[in-house]
Amino acid sequence: MNFNRTALRTMSSTGTSTIAISAAAFLAVLLLWQTPLHAAGKSGEAGFKANCAACHADGGNIIKADKTLSRKDLHKNGIKTANDIVKLMRHPGPGMSTFDKKMVSDKDAKAIAEYVLKAFK
Ligand code: HEC
Repeated sequence: MNFNRTALRTMSSTGTSTIAISAAAFLAVLLLWQTPLHAAGKSGEAGFKANCAACHADGGNIIKADKTLSRKDLHKNGIKTANDIVKLMRHPGPGMSTFDKKMVSDKDAKAIAEYVLKAFK
């Protein structure tokens, strides 16, 4: 009697975790599958999150507090267009990583720059 109940319980809990694992694997595949779409330049926001947000979370600047991505700071520092931002990614100031064309294509760089101009007021 007792043995049978335990066996039943074991069986059903194994069944549940198998479903959970399949669901997790399915989600992981879905995420992996979607990533190249963003990398291909569809979303400046995704590019920003992947490349810039480590230092510029929410448009701030964790290294140089007076060089945030707010419009006020950008204008103060002579950065007005998406092209200005792309140029900066290629030839950044001290403390910022360089993003060459191999890391971020011209198209992706432009999408990221346009996102920066739009997202942070
Ligand atoms: C390792 C940290 C780091 C990363 C990653 C980084 N930045 Fe920066 N960023 C900085 C620092 C530090 C400065 C200030 C450099 C200076 O003094 O000229 C800066 C400055 C800037 C500025 C000028 C801001 C102003 O007010 O003058 C822009 C625009 C900018 N970054 C955009 C980006 C973009 C777009 C990315 C991603 C493609 C990025 N940064 C990634 C650290 C970073």
